[in-house]
Amino acid sequence: MEKADIKIEGAMVCDGTGAALFKADVAILDDRIQAVGDLSAQPAGSVVSGAGLVLAPGFIDVHTHDDRAVLVDPSHACKVSQGVTTVVTGNCGISLAPLKVPADKRPAPPLDLIAPTGAQLFDGFGDYLSALDTAPPAVNVLPQIGHSTLRLAAMEDLTRGASGRELSAMLSLLEDSLAAGAAGFSTGLFYRPAEHAPTEEVIALVKAVGAAGGFHSTHMRDEGDFVLDSIDETARIGHEGGAPVVISHHKCTGEANHGRSVETLARIDHYRVQQPMALDAYPYEAGSTVLDSARLEGARKILVSWSEPRPDCAGRDLDELAAEFGMSRQETAKMLSPAGGIFFQMDEEDVRRILAHPATMIGSDGLPHDARPHPRLWGTFPRVLGHYARDVGLFSLEEAVRKMTGLPAARFGLTDRGAIRPGAYADLVLFNADSIIDSATYENPMQPAAGIEMVMVNGRIVWRDGASTGARPGRAIRLKDIKPRTVPDAA
Ligand code: ZN
Ligand code: CU
Repeated sequence: MEKADIKIEGAMVCDGTGAALFKADVAILDDRIQAVGDLSAQPAGSVVSGAGLVLAPGFIDVHTHDDRAVLVDPSHACKVSQGVTTVVTGNCGISLAPLKVPADKRPAPPLDLIAPTGAQLFDGFGDYLSALDTAPPAVNVLPQIGHSTLRLAAMEDLTRGASGRELSAMLSLLEDSLAAGAAGFSTGLFYRPAEHAPTEEVIALVKAVGAAGGFHSTHMRDEGDFVLDSIDETARIGHEGGAPVVISHHKCTGEANHGRSVETLARIDHYRVQQPMALDAYPYEAGSTVLDSARLEGARKILVSWSEPRPDCAGRDLDELAAEFGMSRQETAKMLSPAGGIFFQMDEEDVRRILAHPATMIGSDGLPHDARPHPRLWGTFPRVLGHYARDVGLFSLEEAVRKMTGLPAARFGLTDRGAIRPGAYADLVLFNADSIIDSATYENPMQPAAGIEMVMVNGRIVWRDGASTGARPGRAIRLKDIKPRTVPDAA
């Protein structure tokens, strides 16, 4: 056998399929895994000891808002430090392209979560992909185009459905973006730029996505009182649009809906044996998004994650601020806006039930530009492994890793990723199963996790000894490179 570049010796291999750990050596040549097994006779340029450690496929963060973060800080430590090697971007209806907004103007929320001014946007989706190719980050990027971005590009008045002419304008931007390589299409029907879009508008766009071989992901219209209706709408869009769909960050918000994950998961199970439907979740009881003064109900507590006019209020409790200012929650939120919040609005039992569902993948939904981000940005994957799998015993280590690797690779059709086998890309993470744990907290959210020993992307080490190596081997993965699963789970 040809001399390997790197050999990882004696690790417990967790191959991403859910199969039990087994002890083996893994050899890497160029950007691929060359061999797995007893490789004591195999020569290698360098050797990494895996003794006492678990070697898994690099984690796939299926729900991110890292679109611009990977460009401004290519080392992408918030994710690489967790063992993440691929990020799916463009979620919740928002992407940096294709859209033109004057450089001195603030794009409509929630797009301002990833682009505080028009200067950060790209006219064409191909321009965004070229930027990634020219200045590659440490991680692989699987980019989606956002429905709200299209609406902002094609419509003047967002308080209604698109007209025939606007819909054709959106369709042509969408088709150009898919041709340039956009792999998926996301909707954020919950948010203002898209809340008035009728189901038919979305179906018309999803048809183009399905025809091109892409996938649809959705921040559904409602995750509270009407969450079941939203699941029905999502299924209809998938069925009539003819594209696989991912229900993003599945949750039941508001106290009245706590416990309803029993119903929502049953409804999802009903659909997923009829049509390709997937879901993801993050391991926390709080969500995070823009602070909208009209949408503060249902949260028992809200932390300010950033504020443009009052940066000093980041990290503070909204109700405490309201008491200090002698104002209502709503008035305070208005005064702080544009701003972001962390909303404590879920029930721990729902979080656990959703995470444990066999079809649930892991997605952080971290917001990398927030002054005081939700700890999910730095903690999601080690928290699932250390807290929920090891300490709580919600599922096995092998199952946790499957939710982060083999399962998402199959859903998104990331051929040759999310697996440890000869020929697969060498996206790998070496970690200590006894000590792995998230360190990021609501009080101190930007902390690298403990227990991640080494992370490799496309055969090159990007994280070691608690720090980025500076290597930037990540790739922009295009639509032509993937084969999303198009058959239901019963098939
Ligand atoms: Zn969302
Ligand atoms: Cu999101």
